[in-house]
Amino acid sequence: MSYTIIKTETLDGVGLIRLNRPQAMNALNGALMAEVVDALQAFDRDPDVGAMVITGDERAFAAGADIKEMADASVVEMMLAERIEHWDRIRQIKKPIIAAVSGWCLGGGNELAMACDMIVASESAKFGQPEINLGVIPGAGGTQRLTRAVGKAVAMEMVLNNRTLDAEEALRYGLVNRVVPVERYLEEALALAKEIAARAPLAVRLGKEMVNHAFESFLADGVADERRAFYILFSTEDQKEGMRAFIEKRKPQWKGK
Ligand code: HXC
Repeated sequence: MSYTIIKTETLDGVGLIRLNRPQAMNALNGALMAEVVDALQAFDRDPDVGAMVITGDERAFAAGADIKEMADASVVEMMLAERIEHWDRIRQIKKPIIAAVSGWCLGGGNELAMACDMIVASESAKFGQPEINLGVIPGAGGTQRLTRAVGKAVAMEMVLNNRTLDAEEALRYGLVNRVVPVERYLEEALALAKEIAARAPLAVRLGKEMVNHAFESFLADGVADERRAFYILFSTEDQKEGMRAFIEKRKPQWKGK
């Protein structure tokens, strides 16, 4: 599929998606999200891609869902348009996704970043859930993922009172993985994705699934599933190779088998 709102490319085993609506601060309208989901699915199927990066531009990762698109919608229209159901497909992506965030990361933009597996932030990144200003609340997982990421106290302030976190605060509260100078945030996210893409693919896949499990289920179920996934990896050639290579003090050669 060729895209009109996003730009995609593959670099060293990493699938890069750039949100490209700079005139609207990368506001996430339906067409843009459809392209993002399609590109993620295509990269997920591509054997030459091991990880993905989603980014915006220096000024904005994304300033939220497109307010102009939904301002006059009724409940029925929102439900029939399945605006948010679409986002659920991001959860089905098996390979790791890193958000490279600079500037505004608000509302649905923050929800998109949190739906990724890791966040690399530039020093200028600003995170918030300003939906309360519009008389609504986050709708694409924000209340759930944010609370798990930063804890109840900070999440309450953000959701109920539009508290914005700067990059250093986001790092301190555990929302992002690292903060780097603006000139380097994309490069750093790509480098991290490239490192992960070079690792044992099946272990990366199950590792992602299991860490997400900790978010999405009760601990006992997650621990049991994690144990099963761990055992299953012992049927792969990569596990044998990885452990042998450690013992033989050499670099492992991953096959994805
Ligand atoms: C539609 C948006 C937009 C948005 C910015 N724009 N955010 N359009 N939806 N979320 C548009 C503006 O209307 C403007 O278009 C242009 O982008 C530039 O924005 P400005 O406001 O002029 O820029 P600035 O003064 O620098 O302020 C930047 C900003 C502000 C702080 C990011 O734009 C802002 O507060 N945006 C809204 C943030 C927000 O409330 N997000 C939550 C949305 S609800 P024109 O045509 O005037 O030049 C949400 C719910 C998710 O995300 C639910 C699940 C899907």
